Parts: sequence; structure tokens; C-alpha cells
Amino acid sequence: MDLLWYLSRIPGARGLWQRYPVGSIPDRVRFGIWPRPHYAYGVNFAADLANNLGLREVCVIEFGVAGGNGLLALEDCAGRIGNHYGVKVHVWGFDAGVGLPLPIDYRDFPHLWGEGDYVMDVAALKARLRSAQLILGDIAETIPEFLQRAGVPPIGFVSFDLDYYSSTTAALKIFEGPQGSRLPRTLCYFDDIIWPEAACHSEYTGELLAIAEYNMAHETCKVAKVANFRWTRAHAAEWNEQIYAHHDFTHPLYNVKLRASEQLHLKP
Ligand SMILES: C[S@@+](CC[C@H](N)C(=O)[O-])C[C@H]1O[C@@H](n2cnc3c(N)ncnc32)[C@H](O)[C@@H]1O
Repeated sequence: MDLLWYLSRIPGARGLWQRYPVGSIPDRVRFGIWPRPHYAYGVNFAADLANNLGLREVCVIEFGVAGGNGLLALEDCAGRIGNHYGVKVHVWGFDAGVGLPLPIDYRDFPHLWGEGDYVMDVAALKARLRSAQLILGDIAETIPEFLQRAGVPPIGFVSFDLDYYSSTTAALKIFEGPQGSRLPRTLCYFDDIIWPEAACHSEYTGELLAIAEYNMAHETCKVAKVANFRWTRAHAAEWNEQIYAHHDFTHPLYNVKLRASEQLHLKP
């Protein structure tokens, strides 16, 4: 524990810090001093890993944009955190633009969501975006096209917020491009595995089912919860339970050592 950790525990201190977000990028990420701390953590993970691997560009994605508040937050994180590492962080948002499609069956929670929920005001959002790119259309069609594009840097962070099992299954195809299209470990945030309570989330429906099926179908790639993640945080928060990583175990960069060697000598 350091001085900052003790200071951050003074009642009201973190609220004040959120209001006046001063300090270094790593400190703000460590203490979650961002409007969407999970996005800051994901972008930081991607930029830091890219930097350690000697890459100067990386790509981060939001699946499910709706009004666009998340995409704007992601764009802000990408600019600030990318500058800190000297890595250009490209941002893409994928959305139908016309709201949710029809649920396919019980696996998409038709008791909670339905066709046309979360319609986007495309013109209003485009007017606010500075660097992020919006890809409109059903992701079952837009992802294969995206993976064919030349010059897209490797993917380092993905936020999944598509509500449905069927859409998340389609979104996970983002990891079926060539190995150069992603970092060896891609940080993932899954929005729809806690709320709403009435979903009673389990591995039989929704995002958790899509993850389970992806893992069954892929021998050397896995989407796995980052175990005990909350204990790595200066302040535990709900989003800590929603952090996963896509592992590509045969990726040519998977085994690159990221830290200097350490020794633990016997004390005299
Ligand atoms: C809950 S909203 C996203 C909210 C947003 N991430 C935020 O934080 O403000 C879910 C979005 O997923 C999109 N979506 C769901 N299934 C889709 C699909 N198959 N193709 C494209 N977009 C889809 C919907 O259009 C909707 O806007």
C-alpha cells in the first residue's frame, strides 16, 4: 500500500478526484478515476501490451453503441492513454443503428429486450465523434468485411454490449481473423452478465452461453474470465467481475517475455 492508496480511502476523496481528474494516467487507471473505468482499463491493457511488443498502433472496439455515450468515452480513453504510451489507439464502434434485431429465442432474453430497442441518432452521434469510426449494419455482415480490410492494427480490447446471445456469438467471430488481426491476449469486457436481475444470467443463455460455445469450438483460443481480477485493483468494483481475456495460445507473440528477469535471493 502506498500514500495514494491511503489518501484514496479518506471519505469523499475518490469522489473529489473523479471531479478533478488530475494525476498520471497509470494512477488514474489503477484507482478507476474515469467515467468508465473498465474502458480505461481495457485501453490501458491494449496500449501497454502493444508498447511492450514493440507495436505502435492498436485497435479497440465497442460492440453495441446505441446512443453513443460509451463510444465517446472509449474515444476519450484512447486519445489520453494512447498519448501516454506513444501508441496510436484506433477506435471502432459496431452497431445496427436501428436498435436490437428480433430475438431468436429464449437465449436472447425476449422477456427483457425486443426488436428496435436502443435506436441510434446516427447524425447526432457522428457530429460528436472526433476520431472513432462507426460501422453500421448487422455485425454478422460487418465483421467479416472488417476482417478483410487492409491496414487495420491488431485488436487489443473489445467491449461486448449487444444484449443477445445470438449477437454476441456473431461478435466473437472478430477473433476468427488471421492471428495478426489481434494481440496474443485481447482484453474483453462483457456488459450483459450481471444486470438486469430478471435475466438470472447463466451459461445457458446470453453472453455466457456465447462464450461457452466459443470455447467448445476453439481448441487453441479461449475466452476466459481473468481470475481474481478484483484483487489486482486499488478499489474493488462491480465491473471487475466483467473482465475476461481472449487468449490465442498459438499466437506468434503469446510467449514473448514482457518483464525483466527477477531473482529471489536467500536473505542473509
Ligand atoms: C445496450 S445497447 C449498447 C449500449 C452502449 N454500449 C452504451 O454503453 O451506451 C445494445 C446495442 O447493440 C446493438 N446490436 C445488438 N445486436 C446487434 C447486431 N446483430 N448487429 C448490430 N448491432 C446490434 C443494438 O443496435 C443496440 O444499440
